[in-house]
Amino acid sequence: MSAVERLAQRIQEQRLTRVLNYSDARQRARRILPKGLFEYIDGGSDDEITLARNRAAFSDVTLKPRMAVRNPDPDLRVKLFDTELSMPILTAPCGGMRLVNPIGDLGVARAASGAGVVHVATSASGYTLEEIAQDEGPKWFQLYRFYNQSAMENLVHRAQQAGYRAIVITVDTTVGGNREADFRNGFSYKMRVDAKNAVKMAPQMALHPHWIYRYARDGMPFVLPNTAQLTRDGKALSLAEMADPVESHSPSWEDIARVRAHWSGPMLIKGLVTVDDARRAVGVGADGIIVSNHGGRQLDGVPATMDVLADIVDDVGSDLDVLLDSGIRRGSDVFKALAVGARAVLVGRAAVWGLAIGGQAGVERMLGILRADLIRTMRLAGCTALHDLDRTWVELPARPPPPRPV
Ligand code: FNR
Repeated sequence: MSAVERLAQRIQEQRLTRVLNYSDARQRARRILPKGLFEYIDGGSDDEITLARNRAAFSDVTLKPRMAVRNPDPDLRVKLFDTELSMPILTAPCGGMRLVNPIGDLGVARAASGAGVVHVATSASGYTLEEIAQDEGPKWFQLYRFYNQSAMENLVHRAQQAGYRAIVITVDTTVGGNREADFRNGFSYKMRVDAKNAVKMAPQMALHPHWIYRYARDGMPFVLPNTAQLTRDGKALSLAEMADPVESHSPSWEDIARVRAHWSGPMLIKGLVTVDDARRAVGVGADGIIVSNHGGRQLDGVPATMDVLADIVDDVGSDLDVLLDSGIRRGSDVFKALAVGARAVLVGRAAVWGLAIGGQAGVERMLGILRADLIRTMRLAGCTALHDLDRTWVELPARPPPPRPV
């Protein structure tokens, strides 16, 4: 490493220590990323009702601590299927990460395994699923159905070969959510990186020369490397090319049954928010579900995941493992979700902002903050181990009475 590179690294490390929480990371990422990219990550769909609900639902849960408990070293470990995690936090599958930072998915995966947790690699990664699997930590693979059934089966087969321990099937993305900021900013999966587009985007890009420099040096990737094996010339397809309006959608229950027949490890279904769908997941032989509304990015108006968690856990919690994401910002949010009955949570944007502000080190910083936060919450609450957590540690918001019959 040259002296200049060492100095740059030292400056970055110092800057990262000044990032104390999610909001700090988000604010710094806003300065680093072009507007269109920042808003693509940050925003929700339509009127962002669900996006706002996700946060409100955590605020509405009150903690019931137990004081005067000596608790120097709370136990955060959790075992999911056959994998032991050092804390109950996974990094969620997020597409487009190589635009955020050239190290992209590799940086998130390495940070996760360094922290002793699982990274869930998206089908829409900036590196192939085989490249991501090179990192030795345990990983799960998230499946979309791009293009057609055989493309989907190709991904399933390769994920198994590459050693992914579990498959996560995302079911809330039959089409992309209506994120209007993306249309206004000219940022979309149909976007092409060409001279015409460059002129259109120049004004927002000009303010972020460092990001442009890195992106250009990385070869301006805007394709799905996982698809290169499907084409005759071995070239990866862009998202636009994969988005066949009939064949390309998130997997249906029929697709899921087919995956179940071929996938030998644990299978989780991500993107459910109702008890009925959770029961259906049990019916197709899922080992787990991730209660998720995609971080408020898909169907606007659906409930916050924390508002439906208790009912779902009560109904299917003894049949499969229930995980949750959407809106996790602090360790106390993790504590609340686990108290209500989630086995673990996933973080999306928290890791993405980390990647934006410091590559792998930035994701490490965000996971470190969440861990320290969770430890502090447990110590202040008097909880010595996560397996002691249950609903006696929280007060859930009162529900409105059911409507009276007329
Ligand atoms: C996502 N999410 C997502 N989910 C998925 O199953 N496959 C994917 O490729 C993506 N891509 C993606 C990109 C970006 C930029 C974001 C922010 C999110 C959803 C993600 O896995 C997770 O459900 C949410 O991000 C959780 O909400 P929070 O933690 O971001 O509030």
